[in-house]
Amino acid sequence: MKIRQALSILFISLFVLSCSKSDEAEEVVAGVPSAYAAAKLTNDGFTANWTRVYHADKYLVDVSTKADFSTFLPNYNALSVTALTVDISGLTAGVSYYYRVRAVRGALISAFSNVITAEILSTGPEPTTALKDVANFNVGMIVRSSKLTGQTSDIILREFDNITSEYEMKMDKMYPSNGTYDFVAVDKIVKYATDNNLNLHGHALIWHNATPDWVTKFSGTNAEFETMVKGYITTVVTRYKGKIKSWDVVNEAVEDGSNTLRNSIFRQKMGDDYIKKCYQWARDADPACKLFYNDYNFASNAGKRAAIFKIADDLKVNNLIDGLGAQMHISYKSPAASDIQAVVNGTVSRNLLMHFSELDIQANPDNNMTTLTPERAIEQKNKYKEVVKIFNAIPKANQYALTVWGLRDSESWLISFWGHADWPLMYNDDYSAKKAHTGFLEGLK
Ligand code: XIL
Repeated sequence: MKIRQALSILFISLFVLSCSKSDEAEEVVAGVPSAYAAAKLTNDGFTANWTRVYHADKYLVDVSTKADFSTFLPNYNALSVTALTVDISGLTAGVSYYYRVRAVRGALISAFSNVITAEILSTGPEPTTALKDVANFNVGMIVRSSKLTGQTSDIILREFDNITSEYEMKMDKMYPSNGTYDFVAVDKIVKYATDNNLNLHGHALIWHNATPDWVTKFSGTNAEFETMVKGYITTVVTRYKGKIKSWDVVNEAVEDGSNTLRNSIFRQKMGDDYIKKCYQWARDADPACKLFYNDYNFASNAGKRAAIFKIADDLKVNNLIDGLGAQMHISYKSPAASDIQAVVNGTVSRNLLMHFSELDIQANPDNNMTTLTPERAIEQKNKYKEVVKIFNAIPKANQYALTVWGLRDSESWLISFWGHADWPLMYNDDYSAKKAHTGFLEGLK
């Protein structure tokens, strides 16, 4: 009896085990394929492609011009395909198509994959609609005093209503030696802004990376150093009172990694509250001027974000800050929209102005391209669109400006900074608009 009981338990267990095994197999067959980004984009087609699903006999591919697949392209309503790719041609330039895939084994059909958007390359030039004509916020561009003429100036005046000096309003340029200021370039930029009715954002009074040698090697006492910095900030802000309506007072004070205060010469000589002192002197010199704190990796690093908000909170207690600048030197693949949104949310919740102050979007962050491919140009365009969409949705009262850090790709500081090719901006070298520019326009819709 006992043996029979034991045997029947054994058989039951084996049966259960075999059932669960086949259930597992079925689950695998019903596994959902992941669709990859469209490959080989041309001006009339692309290749849809996706991951293999274990034991699948074939795949069903849907293609539509509607994101909700309410209609299908003829022949692409559950088109049966045995390979892991299918070439789709005869499409219309400039139109966006969507595809999704299911896996089939026998009678089992999986759920739908993710949906991929494939934008067919338009053959003609990109639209040249001026950004400032469509945007409901200030759109900014950087300038150099030596390039305020010709096609560069034409584009600035047509597209932008806010300018920032790329490097001539930094301490090493404005205050090259003790007691001697050089305002030639700044005066030129101020005149250009005034003549053309452009808003001029001041960038940047204190930045560890643009500190003249005589300051880093300062020979006086700490008290003399502090007096010198006070004199510098007071002189510059007073000189341009009413003309430069906002300043990045301190730039990049947070150290990467530790997210503590960077041990710049200013911190060494003036102590941890050097930031507060600098903002106070700027405030005293021009009470109407909007004071910003500006930094990078504001979106991509949550720890750094918290450190930046802490600086803002400490200044805000004494009414010494009006806004935050998120530099936005980003890439086509990161940071995620949610991280960019976190920067905005923290800024808006503190009732500060938001400046996306130095936008450029690397297309080649991994240095694996020698030319900007059509696929990557579209991915870059989509990131421009995403950033602009996020900025556009900020409450009006908190929008300061969205400034792009450079006009033509070859002029971007990133090329020498990273030491390899990239195309991070919105204009080609012949001044024609790139897809990135179209992405900016689309983000405004
Ligand atoms: C860069 C300029 O683009 C370069 O021309 C200059 O040589 C160095 O600075 N963060 C900033 C900007 O706040 O001022 C930097 O601009 C880019 C990084």
